Amino acid sequence: MENPQQLDELLVCRLDDGRKSVEPCTVVIFGASGDLTARKLIPALYHLYREKHLPDPFRIIGFARREKNSESFRAEMGEALQKFSRTKPVDADVWSAFSSNLQYCQGDMSDPAAYRKLAGQIEGFEHPGLRKNRLFYLATSPSQFAEVTQHLNAAGLLEKVPASGSWQRIVVEKPFGHDLASAHVLNADLTRHAHEKQIFRIDHYLGKETVQNILMFRFSNSIFEELWTRRSVDHVQITVSEKLGVGGRGGYYEEAGAMRDMLQNHLLQVLALVAMEPPVSLEAESIRDEKVKLLKSIRPLAPIQVAANVVRGQYTAGEIDGQPRPAYRGEAKVKADSNVETFIALRMLIDNWRWSGVPFYLRTGKNLPLSASEVRVQFRPTPHVLFAAQCGPKLDANAITLRLQPNEGITLRFNGKIPGTSMRLRPVRMHFSYDSEFGAYTPEAYERLLLEAIAGDATLFIRRDEVETAWGFIDSIRAGWDNQPLMENEFYAAGTWGPAAADELLAASGRAWRNPQPVK
Ligand code: BG6
Repeated sequence: MENPQQLDELLVCRLDDGRKSVEPCTVVIFGASGDLTARKLIPALYHLYREKHLPDPFRIIGFARREKNSESFRAEMGEALQKFSRTKPVDADVWSAFSSNLQYCQGDMSDPAAYRKLAGQIEGFEHPGLRKNRLFYLATSPSQFAEVTQHLNAAGLLEKVPASGSWQRIVVEKPFGHDLASAHVLNADLTRHAHEKQIFRIDHYLGKETVQNILMFRFSNSIFEELWTRRSVDHVQITVSEKLGVGGRGGYYEEAGAMRDMLQNHLLQVLALVAMEPPVSLEAESIRDEKVKLLKSIRPLAPIQVAANVVRGQYTAGEIDGQPRPAYRGEAKVKADSNVETFIALRMLIDNWRWSGVPFYLRTGKNLPLSASEVRVQFRPTPHVLFAAQCGPKLDANAITLRLQPNEGITLRFNGKIPGTSMRLRPVRMHFSYDSEFGAYTPEAYERLLLEAIAGDATLFIRRDEVETAWGFIDSIRAGWDNQPLMENEFYAAGTWGPAAADELLAASGRAWRNPQPVK
């Protein structure tokens, strides 16, 4: 007999031809001496090459100020790959073929001559596709975006309306501003020399397989989508917890805090996918339209409402897995009296037909007991008759948990009878695990995102109005904090699930956080 998995294979429904159509192009990485290039970008491009996803031919030019040549750049990247590659050992033949396409352009990002040199390097490529199709990856500080795009434009490398049959795109990393006003300026700067369609804003959460699966899960399964409304859902919890502290990133974090670093982007993106309406098509713009609509439906918080709906926290010294952790205020480059939040939890309402009255609870923090991201959709309790009448609050309500990472999968929790002669009920679980269904496959988010940017598909990137709408909401919270110092009850010891106030936020309505469970 055929095995059921083989039968399921026959039902695989292809939405694309399996391979992105990609044209020969040059990828220029600005900030090529930085951490991101060595840790993420080059390993991702190497794996795309290994899997034969990159166009033929292609070139990658690292642009940075440091004095080096293509040969030493290749050697450096080769060493970094040994360290950061998700597959080991690195295939020497593949690396050697891949790295022969890697070049370096030494120059200062503020010097027009450096861009002329870069243009000369690109012009020197024999293949016309390499000369005219260009992806500029700005792995730089956002304060340099305006300058770089202006110089690229002046050097004739970036045009708002590229010559027909060619393309030029810009990829930028967060933070996209630090509030609505600065995001507005940044977007205006970027769109001065490039059309919005040419700008690919990265949120690496959208590159995660499980985050992409949210749309498939919701809109290809009628049994779940039917339940995905205020009629069935009591509330939704989105948790992104991190075991790591701020470590060496104190300088950056002092400016960002958990709200700008995680909530404005990753958590709101996950929320948008979990709660948005079905798009009219799978086109990038249709999906992004729905995400923006959802973000616009978040009920804004007046300053006076912030305290009752948002809890912030900062870690004090503690212990995780038996290892001592310093207090945030004791981390390098952090002010001794810093009031920056390393934890945030909030209750939000979405004012649309589907979700009216359903609270969404979001939380994220550093130095929590576990690294895990999950979405828990908690269904309404059964009516107070039969089992509910007898068990009272002990009768657990149904829940679906989307485990985004680790232990990627989906769990449905419901009640079942404990076998035996007595009548006893307890929650049981039904698990879907990516690993056991599909085998271990964990491509890096950056691989997917770089490939999409090269192919020109903007679905997984953030549009200008998404960024700005998200900032509008974040600004309303900040206005409520109004530079108030943290209070005593807003500190939490490293290794705990955040300040007690975060529990009170849910307890006020008889609810409780369900913490992610460690992988067994
Ligand atoms: C980044 C934040 O965007 O996301 C980091 O700047 C955070 O502070 C990281 O640690 C979390 O990403 P992941 O993929 O490890 O969940």
